[in-house]
Amino acid sequence: MSLFYIIQPQGYSFWVFGIMNAILSEPLDIDIAMTLHPLCQVTDIEPDQAIKVLYQEQEIIVVRRGEQAFAYYNRCPHAGAKLDMNSENLISFDQFHLFCSVHGALFHPATGYCVAGPCSGQSLTPLPVTIREGKVCVFSDGTHDEV
Ligand code: FES
Repeated sequence: MSLFYIIQPQGYSFWVFGIMNAILSEPLDIDIAMTLHPLCQVTDIEPDQAIKVLYQEQEIIVVRRGEQAFAYYNRCPHAGAKLDMNSENLISFDQFHLFCSVHGALFHPATGYCVAGPCSGQSLTPLPVTIREGKVCVFSDGTHDEV
């Protein structure tokens, strides 16, 4: 805990203990129970392709790459548009990158990092996902159905 010296506008001053400082300096003991919420079956996604699903009323892009899956909010870091606003294609012509149909940005499927386009160096916003029992699942705070 620390001590602060406060000067009042009227010229009076006094010492107060920095209670917030004391609270913030203590380790936070927060118990967050994480659960898995299924987004889709892995087989819903063709190999090396992507689909859209709804999660917490948001459109999510789920990409399948080999035995892995990755998920991102369907919101381009350039102008905030949905990647598929002008086209249904979520995958670029090179069949590798995620593709924003608005201005052509290309994103690495495993990281969401923009490798070309007007938002180069920025990234899609990811969701933490894993594959469990043949389903692509997002780690959730437990407010949705569990696997
Ligand atoms: S909105 Fe996606 S590249 Fe411009």
